[in-house]
Amino acid sequence: MVDCKSLRGDFPEISGRGLVFLDSAASSLKPRSVIDSMRVFMENSYANVHRGAYRVSLEASKAYEDAHEAVAKFINAWSLEEVIFTKNTTESLQLLALTLFYNKLIGRGDEIVVTEAEHHSNMLPWVRIARIAGAKVKMVPVDSEGVPRWDMLEEILSEKTRVVAFGHASNVTGYLSDARKIAREARKVGALVVIDGAQSVPHVKVDVRELEADFIAFSGHKMLGPSGIGVLWGKLDFLENLEPPLGGGGTVKRVRLEGGDVKIDWETPPWKFESGTPPIVEAVGLAKAVEYLENIGMHNVEAHEKRLTEYAMKNLEELGDPIRILGPKDPNKKLGIVSFTIGTLDPSLIGAWLDSYNIAVRTGLHCAHILHDKLGATQGSVRASFYIYNCHDDVDKLRNSLEELLKTLEK
Ligand code: ALA
Repeated sequence: MVDCKSLRGDFPEISGRGLVFLDSAASSLKPRSVIDSMRVFMENSYANVHRGAYRVSLEASKAYEDAHEAVAKFINAWSLEEVIFTKNTTESLQLLALTLFYNKLIGRGDEIVVTEAEHHSNMLPWVRIARIAGAKVKMVPVDSEGVPRWDMLEEILSEKTRVVAFGHASNVTGYLSDARKIAREARKVGALVVIDGAQSVPHVKVDVRELEADFIAFSGHKMLGPSGIGVLWGKLDFLENLEPPLGGGGTVKRVRLEGGDVKIDWETPPWKFESGTPPIVEAVGLAKAVEYLENIGMHNVEAHEKRLTEYAMKNLEELGDPIRILGPKDPNKKLGIVSFTIGTLDPSLIGAWLDSYNIAVRTGLHCAHILHDKLGATQGSVRASFYIYNCHDDVDKLRNSLEELLKTLEK
């Protein structure tokens, strides 16, 4: 059980501003423990990592490695070496696409499968790498609810498919795909399975062993952690054999000039993929965020958001025309996201109206333009998204303020 009312006290932005925050799918609020952990670390133990023999640097290095360990445990990875810290999900997926290309695992004539429902972070890196490599991107179409037609995957896959990359949960409809089933299907043709977990890892228990994927990407800032840190998880035996596309400080054991040539002896994973000074303070904050979520329990987080989603859908449906909810009608198929349109009203105007009630939602195309086009919502939508600090009263406030807006429209 999530006691949302008492949890709110942990989030200064809610208590300080009286905010009804329904935009956690964009970025979540931060609990006091995360904020404090970063401040305390900077005040006491901050130094660069893996570069100094002095005590503070060793302490900072230990904290940084412990953060990898905490994230590895959170997703049930086999070891901390499998957890690469990046800037965010987008950068994780770019890094992966580049790595596969650089290591000649994507080349001319190869195929990469994504879906029409993808967030741009899991579409544009593949489209761009395919263009450079002479490969082809194939898309799993969506149905009228914006749900990928996974029943068509078998006919889309071929012996040329190198990668199947898909969003575990849609950032527009909230639809949660059956990742393990997709992974098993993709593996039959020898494709690598890449999961964009930006909208699932913060909200459901994601166990990389159960999902049977090869790579998962997600962001710290959507799961109570700070912005500026993301994760790319991959299997160690795979990472060990890949050359990183981005070299630089921290990625090598030794560089030598031999016969006029630069010889590079790469570090072991994950360090060889973390070029330059990494997000040290952010890693400390992310580890604290993981601890906070683990104390609540991811099954409780999921159940709480399910209840809110169901309640929100029921309330918006009761308001009736011209409100149209995008995505599956069945709340059990969704995580805590409810996107909707109101007739032809510009979503940003609806967002501004809600803001006047101190309700924060996201408006627009949510970096998923193709999906909105497919859903006939070419102007975009309004998205309410939930997290542990949201309670039923937040949904009531959303409903009441929309009711007022509808009355205004009728006049
Ligand atoms: N990817 C984030 C969203 O969907 C920013 O809002």
